[in-house]
This record gives sequence, structure tokens and C-alpha cells, in this order.
Amino acid sequence: MAGRIVVVAQQKGGAGKTTLAAHLAAYFAGRGLRTAAADIDPQGSFTRWTELRFNARDGQGLGFGFAQLSGWRLPTELDRMSREHDIVIVDSAPHAMTDSRTAIRYANLVLVPVQPSPMDLWATGPTLALAREERRPSMIVINRMPPRSTLASDMVEKLNALEAGVCRVALGNRTAYASSLGAGLGVTEFEPGSTAARELAAAGDDVLAALSR
Ligand SMILES: Nc1ncnc2c1ncn2[C@@H]1O[C@H](COP(=O)(O)OP(=O)(O)OP(=O)(O)O)[C@@H](O)[C@H]1O
Ligand SMILES: [Mg+2]
Repeated sequence: MAGRIVVVAQQKGGAGKTTLAAHLAAYFAGRGLRTAAADIDPQGSFTRWTELRFNARDGQGLGFGFAQLSGWRLPTELDRMSREHDIVIVDSAPHAMTDSRTAIRYANLVLVPVQPSPMDLWATGPTLALAREERRPSMIVINRMPPRSTLASDMVEKLNALEAGVCRVALGNRTAYASSLGAGLGVTEFEPGSTAARELAAAGDDVLAALSR
């Protein structure tokens, strides 16, 4: 597989874009894929995590390529990164920013984290529409799925009915996702063997499967 660009996008704030992007980058790099990540969100949360990661890995570097990108450099840099890596993960901003649309235009897959609540479901329409306008395939990743909830199951049913792929693994609401990022690592590195690590890896594998279809 060569040069696939995965853009994590969702106009709703706090849906889990940066969380998903960071754990996937760490997981793909750990699987031996030549991985790169790009932070195109001016908030710079992903970039903050890479700073922690650089120190946590003690001279071993990040384990993946990384750049903070915006504006006119975005298309050329994404193109360069995709030629030099197997997979490029892009963390984008909430709200419809020009850079998000540009990145989506170059995406092989648009990954859309959605929490199973009515408001989050409603807020997902514009992001899926953007992917559709740019004729890019999208895949919803259900995030912070509570263990037992009729409301959430109902929401999952509604998400499945949308015109988008849905990742076959939902990510649970787990503190390990935040604590590992706080340590500069992905959950598959910080707590290998944990439920969170297993579910993240399974979701990552489904993303790879979608990319190779
Ligand atoms: N599966 C999860 N389990 C528990 N907490 C989670 C999970 N996913 C995300 N969170 C928490 O939710 C908050 C928002 O996550 P995150 O920053 O990844 O969202 P975002 O979509 O990138 O936000 P923004 O729109 O501001 O960029 C963070 O505190 C994060 O730790
Ligand atoms: Mg973010």
C-alpha cells in the first residue's frame, strides 16, 4: 500500500478527532507502516502531543513523520508526505475551514468520529456532505460508546443508515485514551493488551481494510 491520505474531520468540536488521529498514527507506526501525520488545526493539540512524545521516547524520535501545515503549502506538502510514506493521518479543525476542505480533497478516506448522541449525529451532516462534494469516501467511527445505552444503540442505527461507511469497531468511553496521550504515547504503546488498545487496533485494521478496497 502506498501513499494513502486519511483525513480525520468533523465540524463538531470535541468529537475525538485529535484522539483518533494520534492513536492511529502511533498504532500504524508500531505496525511497521511508514507513517506520517499532519496537524492542520491552528489549535495545535496534535502538535502538543508530538512534543510530549518526542521527550517520552528518549532520543528515538516520533516514530513517524510530522508537520504542522496550513495555507498554500498544504497541497504540495500532503503530496510530498504521501509519496514518502505508506499512510498520512491528517488532524483537522472543528468548523468548516478552508484547510479542512483542501485536505479532504486529497483524502483517500475521510474518517469522521461521532459520539452517539442526537446533537452529535445532527452535527455530522455537513462533514459528510463535504466529503461527498469532493467525491471522497468517508467512514464514521463511533466514539465514546457507553457500555449499555438504548439511546446510543438507537443513534448507532441512525448512523448506519447514513450514506457513509461505519467502522465495524466503536471506541468505548475509556480514560486510557486520554492518559496515554498525556504520556506522549498511543494506547497501543502505553497499555498494550488493554481493552482500549485492542479496540483501537481493530478500528485501525478496519481503516486499513477500507483503504485497500
Ligand atoms: N474514546 C474516548 N474515551 C474517553 N475520552 C475521550 C475519547 N475520545 C475523546 N475523548 C476526550 O474528549 C475530549 C475531546 O477529544 P479530542 O480533543 O480528541 O476531540 P477533537 O474532535 O479533536 O476536538 P476539537 O474539535 O477541539 O479539535 C478530550 O478530553 C479527550 O480526551
Ligand atoms: Mg482536535
